[in-house]
Amino acid sequence: MGPAELLARLLGPILNPQAPAETVARAVAGLKGLFVELAGETSAGGNRALESGLAISSRDAAACLDDIPRTVAFLRGVDAAIQEALLRFDQRPLRLLYAGCGPFAPLVLPLTVRHPAERLRITLIDVHRDNLASVVRIAHALGTTAALLRAAAEDAAGYRVADDERPHLIVSETMQRALISEPQVAIARNLVPQLMPGGLMVPERIAVNAALTDYRGEFRDHRPFVPLRTPLGEAFCVDLESMGAEKRVLETVDKRGERLIPGGEVNLPQEIPEGTILILATEITTFGPHRIAEYRSGLTEPMIYPEQGLVRPGGRLRFRYRLSRLPEIEAVAP
Ligand SMILES: C[S@@+](CC[C@H](N)C(=O)[O-])C[C@H]1O[C@@H](n2cnc3c(N)ncnc32)[C@H](O)[C@@H]1O
Repeated sequence: MGPAELLARLLGPILNPQAPAETVARAVAGLKGLFVELAGETSAGGNRALESGLAISSRDAAACLDDIPRTVAFLRGVDAAIQEALLRFDQRPLRLLYAGCGPFAPLVLPLTVRHPAERLRITLIDVHRDNLASVVRIAHALGTTAALLRAAAEDAAGYRVADDERPHLIVSETMQRALISEPQVAIARNLVPQLMPGGLMVPERIAVNAALTDYRGEFRDHRPFVPLRTPLGEAFCVDLESMGAEKRVLETVDKRGERLIPGGEVNLPQEIPEGTILILATEITTFGPHRIAEYRSGLTEPMIYPEQGLVRPGGRLRFRYRLSRLPEIEAVAP
């Protein structure tokens, strides 16, 4: 069996919501094995600190594939978004821009065996040049290089799209829990306004919710325990609207010259029991029904907010996103 046929077989259970979890896990492991084999050598380069955030090393990016709920929800979401874009736009081929593809482009490249080059062309961006070379080697082995429109070794947070190459769909997974450190938001803020009108993004929505919870109980069972939680509201969200698809985003710039994007504002309860902490809990909708719930993936592990001193009975918190070399959501007491 050739590599493209093997890939198509592995994709079957990964895209099938009815497939048993063990079969899906085996298929994702098979996908990684195939990519490692087809890529040949991988880069030994380290992390790169960009103005827009941290670009993790090729080795760490390759390891992202092992986060199975993440990989599966993204592949299903990208496939669903491609199908939606095919319905929405008459133009062929559609253009998909994949920002931060890593050494395997695992959230898009496997789908080229389902969506041929006449239907879909892909622009790859990764700041690590070796990653692009690795993806091209894999595409070559799969016989799908015709699907590749462009490969750019650039910071996707500053990348300019030519007017006649506006993408119909943007895909990026350049994030950590609570949107810390990596440049997902900076990339979305740059690319979303460059989409075709009516274009789509995967993930469709990343919501980071603020909640109070009990420090001792919250992390015990590795799942949200509703009775312990006091939901406060949304601290920040990344979707087409909030990233400026239609309207300008009202950013401010602080004394350090760093851009701030406004987030949600929440009230704190009048009584806050001892042992209570403020957490930021992440939920991801990759596309349509395909979601990553809290605790299911490393990307949706709740994070203890580092400044607990802001949590005062009867107080109020205003959240905002700081775009910087180490981006993060921060709270201020207005
Ligand atoms: C978390 S890894 C994900 C890799 C792959 N997309 C996946 O989902 O398995 C993020 C990738 O994005 C790249 N990256 C991060 N920030 C970037 C930026 N601002 N511009 C271009 N590439 C970036 C990193 O080099 C890394 O390969």
